[in-house]
Amino acid sequence: MTVTIVGSQLGDEGKGALVDLWGGDADIVVRYQGGDNAGHTVVEDGEEYKLSLVPSGAVRDKIGVLGNGCVINPRTLFSEIDDLRERGLDPDVRLAKRAHVIMPYHRRLDNIEEEAKADSDLTVGTTGRGIGPTYEDKAGRRGIRVGDLLDPDVLRQRLEYVVPQKKALIEDVYGLEAGEECDVEALVEEYTEIGRRLREDDMAVNCGDFLAERREAGDNVMFEGAQGTLIDIDHGSYPYVTSSNPTAGGAATGTGVGPTVVGQGEVVGIVKSYLSRVGEGPMPTELKGDDRDEELAEFIREKGGEFGTVTGRPRRIGWLDMPMLRHAARVSGFTGIAVNHLDVLAGLDEVKVGHAYELEGEERLTMPATTERWGECEPVLKEFDTWPEVDWAAVAEEGYDAIPDAAQDYLEYLSDELDVPIYAVGVGPGREQTVHIENPFDD
Ligand code: GDP
Ligand code: IMO
Ligand code: MG
Repeated sequence: MTVTIVGSQLGDEGKGALVDLWGGDADIVVRYQGGDNAGHTVVEDGEEYKLSLVPSGAVRDKIGVLGNGCVINPRTLFSEIDDLRERGLDPDVRLAKRAHVIMPYHRRLDNIEEEAKADSDLTVGTTGRGIGPTYEDKAGRRGIRVGDLLDPDVLRQRLEYVVPQKKALIEDVYGLEAGEECDVEALVEEYTEIGRRLREDDMAVNCGDFLAERREAGDNVMFEGAQGTLIDIDHGSYPYVTSSNPTAGGAATGTGVGPTVVGQGEVVGIVKSYLSRVGEGPMPTELKGDDRDEELAEFIREKGGEFGTVTGRPRRIGWLDMPMLRHAARVSGFTGIAVNHLDVLAGLDEVKVGHAYELEGEERLTMPATTERWGECEPVLKEFDTWPEVDWAAVAEEGYDAIPDAAQDYLEYLSDELDVPIYAVGVGPGREQTVHIENPFDD
């Protein structure tokens, strides 16, 4: 069967931790979108792994696949694989031949464009990894695919067409100097060599066929979403989004596994007990403005370690946003959720949730479709009883009933509002710091 893991909010919900938790029952873990903009954390026996491209199943020795919906920077992939090898893991990673390659000029252009927008409200605050420009080239039918790296003639032909365009863009439009990222000969040489390594290590696959064969043989497949619903290019807060589909539909288009297969499996939304956002865009329940809110945000940021895994930027903090979660549950068709970071909210003086929005004097339970209108929404806050700091390791061991009553009320509210069961509750970063309720791989 398949289990699809989806970020329900703005990324960094703790997806890596749940992929790791349930990945024990998976045979293959497949990323279906995004690239090294992701930073997924797995903590095993106190050892912390931060994974950007290697699927999080690597910590448990599972085969990892980067599906056709991903954009892959081979430089960062190989350096991540080498780092993990040094730490004693042996990641078995396969790359879809249909996946697109992040080239050095994509990264340069990502940074140039962000810089050009710096003084406007169009700045996205990207991770600077070249994600947007690579997906642009994919849609513009001028991208370089993993399969092209295996054929030096095709690679040269593609680069000879596209690189002069990038050079002109950098020099004539932005008035900057193009550098070695636009040196066709150097690129052909480096990326042909990368192709050789991919071939030698037998890493390039026809993703859809590979997964079909493995499923036929009875393998369990886990789809590891990166980013989150509100930074989905179609369903997120455009233009403050990433350039792919983290929502569950992406698991089909991004891997070559049919939507009926994905839909017969479980689709689990990962929910952080509060909100964090790295990058620009509206956030109606953000804790900011007065001293008390800023202090609370600072406290949660420090306690939850809310600093970007990829860029180290401090994350913005807010209360849980229910219209956002209702939207996420509908778009991806969640069959269950996992709620993380319950421990971080323990011991606060107040715990609130954005139950609804007020927009033009009317209360609404769902999100408006345009980001401008979303930015005008005021949260209608609902207050919960607070819960104390407890021995979370003991709670994880004892199970759901050991969770403080007020926190159980909070969880039950969430489950009722979204009309889905809770499969797990995260009470700390470690694999064992999780309250198990149901394993989505169990029938
Ligand atoms: P991802 O991108 O969704 O995989 O999430 P990140 O790894 O970027 O960010 C989540 C952070 O919270 C990581 O540092 C995790 O180790 C940590 N984490 C995950 N679950 C929990 C939890 O339940 N409680 C606490 N305190 N930390 C958690
Ligand atoms: P994981 O998988 C949180 C954000 C960036 C920026 C926007 C676009 O760890 O949850 P991009 O570089 O993708 O073009 O940036 O998306 N962003 C993330 N925020 N978690 C992530 O990944 C993110 N990946 C991208 O901060 O606002
Ligand atoms: Mg992350």
